[in-house]
Amino acid sequence: MSITLSQYLTTAVQNNLIDSELSALISAVAQLSKDINDKVTHGALAGVLGMAGTDNVQGEHQKKLDVISNEIFVSGVEWTGSVAGMASEEMDDCLVTPSQFKRGKYLITFDPLDGSSNIDINAPIGTIFSITKAPEGEITNESFLIPGRQQVAAGYVMYSPQTILTFSFGKGVVMFTLNMNTGNYILTKENVQIPATTEEFAINMSNMRHWAAPVKEYVKDLLAGKDGPLGKNYNMRWVAAMVAEVHRVLCRGGIFMYPWDNRKPEQPGKLRLMYEANPMSFLIEQAGGAASTGKGAILDLQPEKLHQRVPVFLGAKEEVARVEEYHKKF
Ligand code: F6P
Ligand code: MN
Repeated sequence: MSITLSQYLTTAVQNNLIDSELSALISAVAQLSKDINDKVTHGALAGVLGMAGTDNVQGEHQKKLDVISNEIFVSGVEWTGSVAGMASEEMDDCLVTPSQFKRGKYLITFDPLDGSSNIDINAPIGTIFSITKAPEGEITNESFLIPGRQQVAAGYVMYSPQTILTFSFGKGVVMFTLNMNTGNYILTKENVQIPATTEEFAINMSNMRHWAAPVKEYVKDLLAGKDGPLGKNYNMRWVAAMVAEVHRVLCRGGIFMYPWDNRKPEQPGKLRLMYEANPMSFLIEQAGGAASTGKGAILDLQPEKLHQRVPVFLGAKEEVARVEEYHKKF
């Protein structure tokens, strides 16, 4: 018999694995993802393709869907009574729960539409979220600077041939597939596990000349295949949406990398710690994998800024350990 998301969350509350505020929050994210999914799947028919004509705080040009998804996300969670505040890739500063709604005990941080460059070509995109306990008192940007290790839940929704909600509240990783006829999310995978070794990597190779020595050396050895020092052949994938890369790693293993490069030497990497690297690292570790900056676990970083960037190496445990070895050696 199929298990719906509501059944799954209700059972988790009954078993004291999560409280009802967290259940309501995950449920609200699932609900709002159906609205984003509706826009995504209708594309040009819904008039949501193309540029918004604005830039976000990171100086990136916003797509219409970035802005629309952000609005859907905010209005989808602010009323729940579960959140004290929200922070997003698409908002310069955090948003305190408006006073007409009950203040909840959690903070939610999100990337409403990840992989924006895929929107207009009908390739996979997603929504990423991270939930932590809210500190007492007034909520400011600083309230969100909580190490990833302290997340109480994290997940993503992937919009692709299938729409899949993946999350963890610290008791393993589960995946739900949206039945678009009934509108129900149905449990389709439990106890997701990433094999410790792999023969598949993902990195944007066009940046090779910009990488630092350890990453150049490591990828050179991956490409050398069976005859090189690693003694095996590797395959490569690049979807250009972190959600899709992490989903692949969770489904069949691999390593995904977005290292520092010298195109913008002042930035530690491309991906953002609070609403990309941390939630994904939480899922990867929950599935038995590892997530590192190359020098240590991403989840142990003390965040310094809301929109901080970080180098990311995540996936198969032994492969991530190997990347750390290269960082020590070179
Ligand atoms: O959010 C940033 C992002 O879109 C990720 O989803 C993705 O992994 C990466 O950027 C793609 O980068 P590139 O433009 O180098 O392919
Ligand atoms: Mn993103």
